[in-house]
Amino acid sequence: MKLIEQAYKKALKPLLFRFDPEEVHDLFVSLGEAFGRNKTGRQLIAAVYGYRGDDASRTVDGITYETPIVLAAGFDYNARLTQILGSVGFGGVEVGSVTAYPCEGNDPPRLKRAIESKSLVVYKGLRNEGVDRIIERIQTRGVQEGLVLGVSIAMTNAESSATLEGAVSDYHTSFKKLNDANIGDYYTINISCPNVYGGESFTDPDRLETLLTRLSEVDCKVPRYAKMPISIEWSQFRELLDLLTQFDFDGAVIGNLQKDYDKIDVRSEAPEEYRGGLSGKPCRKRSTELIAKTREYCGDDFTIMGCGGVLSPEDAIEKLDAGADLIQLISGMIFEGPHLMRNISRAVADQ
Ligand SMILES: Cc1cc2nc3c(=O)[nH]c(=O)nc-3n(C[C@H](O)[C@H](O)[C@H](O)COP(=O)(O)O)c2cc1C
Repeated sequence: MKLIEQAYKKALKPLLFRFDPEEVHDLFVSLGEAFGRNKTGRQLIAAVYGYRGDDASRTVDGITYETPIVLAAGFDYNARLTQILGSVGFGGVEVGSVTAYPCEGNDPPRLKRAIESKSLVVYKGLRNEGVDRIIERIQTRGVQEGLVLGVSIAMTNAESSATLEGAVSDYHTSFKKLNDANIGDYYTINISCPNVYGGESFTDPDRLETLLTRLSEVDCKVPRYAKMPISIEWSQFRELLDLLTQFDFDGAVIGNLQKDYDKIDVRSEAPEEYRGGLSGKPCRKRSTELIAKTREYCGDDFTIMGCGGVLSPEDAIEKLDAGADLIQLISGMIFEGPHLMRNISRAVADQ
């Protein structure tokens, strides 16, 4: 197995990192989709990357995750990998963020690697095919047995959603359609996308209250979480948590991208002016701090998905020790390789 890890780090990654990050991403999604189409493809990938060690499963809000690792929102944004991710060691996938209408995203370049800093500069702007197409795809293809399907919901990145009413109605449209179609084992309301028209607008408590009031009109039978910002003060973060508990949300994903470019190891790897949030290592410390504070503040009944800068099994254990119930990641898989999920599961099972 060490051979596979070395092959990724020494051969495949240096090669892939010579190409445009969004093109490499698209290539991997197409490959994953092709392998996911048939049993042999799935078995082949599982033989190389699947987890077969001691039980590392976790049951959270009544949902069993075969491994404690969920692919964070933004990688499988059009729900094309729901047939294969279980074979790569994921217990779940959060598809999306999906929006009420198809959305091209921001102008390219939308993704940049900050290699020495183990981070990606993400300026996607919620590129996705829209909720209708995504529902249809999931209905047609289904979801791999044992893989938990979360759906992340955001607002269409367009002028029409830049007003409070337009934005709230956009979230409501997707949330209602998904619930009506009975798609998703849980939902995450992405209140903190840093790269959209009108800004990161639902991290303001008054606006969040308006959004949650509207969403509470939908009869939702599965757990609801919110994707939290990490670049705000604890006092504001706590106000957002108060609203989530007031509206009976089951928990939170902590958290989204890092907006503070001073948190990157090599400052010159980030753009000079703000143009996208940072994933990976610059998120690690702050997200873990917020997980610990949230666990203390909200108690044991509040679910926390720990996300941000999990690049090793030790980083995952750090987040679980801080109070997370599950782990979400993207950057670790890209910088360390697809064997990371298996190694995390092994470390969790050994604890
Ligand atoms: C390419 C990319 C696209 C992303 N798009 C979304 C998104 O659509 N919705 C969302 O909630 N988070 C999005 N994120 C944020 C991730 O879900 C995650 O919070 C962040 O990358 C930190 O985790 P990581 O350090 O493991 O990458 C995106 C991240 C990346 C790298």
